[in-house]
Amino acid sequence: MTTMGIIGAGHIGSQIARKAVQLGYDVVISNSRGPETLAELVAELGGKARAATAAEAAAAADFAVVTVPFGHYLDIPAQPLSGKVVIDTNNYYWERDGHVAALDTGEATVSGLLQEHLADSRVAKGFNHIAAPDITTTGTPAGTENRRALATASDHDDAAALVTALYDEFGFDSVNIGPLSESWRVERDRPAYVVRQNAAELAENLAKAPRVI
Ligand SMILES: NC(=O)c1ccc[n+]([C@@H]2O[C@H](COP(=O)([O-])OP(=O)(O)OC[C@H]3O[C@@H](n4cnc5c(N)ncnc54)[C@H](OP(=O)(O)O)[C@@H]3O)[C@@H](O)[C@H]2O)c1
Repeated sequence: MTTMGIIGAGHIGSQIARKAVQLGYDVVISNSRGPETLAELVAELGGKARAATAAEAAAAADFAVVTVPFGHYLDIPAQPLSGKVVIDTNNYYWERDGHVAALDTGEATVSGLLQEHLADSRVAKGFNHIAAPDITTTGTPAGTENRRALATASDHDDAAALVTALYDEFGFDSVNIGPLSESWRVERDRPAYVVRQNAAELAENLAKAPRVI
């Protein structure tokens, strides 16, 4: 079985966990306050899930999801994620996270910064531009007319491919934006951000995104 390690158990982390256990993944989920604070969520998720520290979730993971407030990304344990695909759901809200000059000026991307921090992992953007409740409610089988689509981006083809396959399992088509240096196209407040779109609409929205908001 494949183990998904999830770092962050809030709106997005808990929703990804719910869908993942339905799909048959083993889930190890973590937050900042410790596994004992996740007892209720783990009870809901059932026998396929357990709570752990972030380092333990990273170590147990075949692949991981990082879904904490972006301002905490430097706390993500790098060593146990070494050699693994890491899906980054994070968005930069300066009001919450504090200002990061390289993001304000458009010199960096949110997921590019996580990739720098996790230099030995293969980071791919995913699930950053869908509202948490929609993760478990808006997926449909492959081939459904007007199926909702989500974007990914990575400097590593196998990481983008993993997200594409996972999106399909979750019920979504996908569009690969390319390298992380282009992932700003699906960051906060761009046309593709948190709207329901099919693959053609998503590609159009990505193409018309402004670099700096
Ligand atoms: N909410 C949405 O609809 C949505 C949609 C797309 C993308 N996003 C983005 O996805 C990320 C997560 O959003 P969210 O809404 O799920 O946030 P959230 O509900 O505030 O949950 C954040 C989670 O991260 C945990 N956390 C914080 N610092 C940590 C650390 N150092 N190590 C391990 N866990 C840590 C928190 O644990 P504690 O509670 O124990 O502190 C909490 O479980 C953000 O970047 C957000 O912008 C959110």
